[in-house]
Amino acid sequence: MTDANLLLEKDGPLATIIFNNPKALNALTVATFCGLEKLLNELEQDAAVRVVILTGAGEKAFIAGGDIGHLGNLDADGAREFALLAQRVINQIETFPKPVIAAINGYALGGGCELAMGCDLRIAADSAKFGQPEVKLGIIPGFAGTQRLARLVGKGRAKELVFTGEMIDAAEAFRIGLVNRVVAKEKLLEEARVLAFKMCDKSASAIKLAKEAIDNGLEMDFARAARYEADLFALCFTTADCKEGISAFLEKRPAKF
Ligand code: CAA
Repeated sequence: MTDANLLLEKDGPLATIIFNNPKALNALTVATFCGLEKLLNELEQDAAVRVVILTGAGEKAFIAGGDIGHLGNLDADGAREFALLAQRVINQIETFPKPVIAAINGYALGGGCELAMGCDLRIAADSAKFGQPEVKLGIIPGFAGTQRLARLVGKGRAKELVFTGEMIDAAEAFRIGLVNRVVAKEKLLEEARVLAFKMCDKSASAIKLAKEAIDNGLEMDFARAARYEADLFALCFTTADCKEGISAFLEKRPAKF
């Protein structure tokens, strides 16, 4: 199943996926997740693509959550299935072998905030709003938001957001570490692209291994994680990028990865 409400734009090494159902504030459906999974599979294989940006169409929302109309039709088994599908695709973003940047142009609520948290970096428009409002619907976050939010901003702040269901603005999201930076709304995509291009001319193999070191290492105790880092560091020395990067430095020329 694919989703007509997903757009893909390519600009050299940069791919932008746009959630494009602004009338429903880009709410996430089963079809959206299936379509996203398919697009990510394609972009993973496309060697020309170095960085992926995710953003929302329209003035108001990045993604205002899971589709509440769909949630209304679910029984417990259906709800688990929906949650596991969403978790699988958000995991795919998190373990994607290239950087994924969320450019958050408006509401990032419920499943929208959960999806943004699966990205490597989050840039927010100054007008963006964040929240986990599920308790207002008598449910809890189901796309691994309880876990990623607590890991990103700490247990106390995560509980405050999840228990109250209240929204916070972009400045507060920045203050608590939920987003990396906040920019003027009209500059959001431009700034996201500038940041992405800073990664595009670096070693893709090194960035991939750095991502694995940070994400997988954080799930281990420190000593094991440091050892894991040393193994990945060693792996770098088997790559062409390592030879090129170090030769370029010694020959006083820009590296060409
Ligand atoms: N699902 C389905 N439709 C949604 C939606 C959602 N999550 N959020 C907004 N919409 C729809 C509205 O129903 C409305 O549709 P109609 O024009 O057909 O009535 C349209 O988008 C525009 O929304 P509003 O008129 O409500 O816009 P607003 O500016 O007055 O309010 C808002 C904006 C505060 C974001 C409000 O829409 C809202 O509270 N949305 C729901 C947010 C929410 O609860 N998200 C969590 C969903 S649960 C979840 O995500 C599950 C999970 O983690 C597993």
